[in-house]
Amino acid sequence: MIPVAFVPDRALLDYSRDLIRSLQTPEGAYPASPTFSAYKGFCWFRDGAFIADGMSAVGEVASVDAFFAWCARVVLRYRDDIRAAVDAAAAGEPLPDDRMLPARFTFAGERAGGGDWWDFQLDGFGTWLWALDAHASRHGSDLSPYVEAVAITVDYLVSSWKRACFDWWEEHDDRLHISTLGCIGAGLEAASRMGVLDLARADLAASTAATIRDFVLTDGVANGHLVKWVGSDAVDGSLTSLIAPLRFIPADHPVARATLDAVEADLVVNHGVHRFVADTFYGGGQWPLLSCFAGLARAALGEPERAADYLAWAVSTATDTLDLPEQVDGHLLAPDRKQEWVDKWGDVATPLLWSHAMVLRLAQELER
Ligand code: BGC
Repeated sequence: MIPVAFVPDRALLDYSRDLIRSLQTPEGAYPASPTFSAYKGFCWFRDGAFIADGMSAVGEVASVDAFFAWCARVVLRYRDDIRAAVDAAAAGEPLPDDRMLPARFTFAGERAGGGDWWDFQLDGFGTWLWALDAHASRHGSDLSPYVEAVAITVDYLVSSWKRACFDWWEEHDDRLHISTLGCIGAGLEAASRMGVLDLARADLAASTAATIRDFVLTDGVANGHLVKWVGSDAVDGSLTSLIAPLRFIPADHPVARATLDAVEADLVVNHGVHRFVADTFYGGGQWPLLSCFAGLARAALGEPERAADYLAWAVSTATDTLDLPEQVDGHLLAPDRKQEWVDKWGDVATPLLWSHAMVLRLAQELER
């Protein structure tokens, strides 16, 4: 076992696991946050997939199976919409963004309706495929119940990956975001090796993932590191996820280390990771879940002590009741923009299940 500098108190890990399990809905959905006004009642494919990966890593097999069953039901419920999107793309007349799938659904698996969210995001549909494959590899799960849902998700992503859409932070829908592309590519690659697709579709998933990787490593790189979107030379805190846990950019590729170094130079203060330099959401604080992604990437590069420093910082953001927030305000990029969000939506989302899951995931990585 590799000695690491920091292993969090068991109490926080146990609490995190219990919290996620207890808040999972009877339908299998993972709520983003039980109390936060703007997130209450919704499950995101992005948050949910990473929450599932954390729970899978700590052996919560039944919970994770229930989540993936929920994902499959949602995708199948909207199969006609997906078919319409695939057919329209094939006919050279892509559907408008508001007819593509949203990023979040009610626990019953329905679109929210009302059109009041930054809905069109593709990353989560790749991330659920990636997480499903990671879970099956860890626990030897039977993937036969997912045949149709995986196939239809693959078709959707193959036909739509090159579309601009909102990013992880639900912003800039006019851009091609590199983190989004990485999630799609990782999902397609995962689907191609699951053994549930017909050969032609599996080949198409694999070749599209390879095309996306080539695209990311050419159009998605500036000054040797990955960038926030095509045409930018800035980084985003989400980019480290492509190194680990998604493993879409191999850890030994020079771009991996350069990306992590650039994120650390531009976005990290005392192991707390900002989303991007121009962030103003709640004043632009530091996100424990992003520190965990940076830690996972450092671990993938063979630097467990540096990974442990990130874990220590993420753990330090827990409240007295052990709840982990979405972000903390110890170092704000835009302090004068915090209050407007408090007025609009109340205090920062706490607990955020994705933060808890990432602490579980990184702690498990370092314990291994
Ligand atoms: C974040 C998203 C996240 C959502 C729910 C938003 O503020 O930007 O990444 O999926 O909250 O947690």
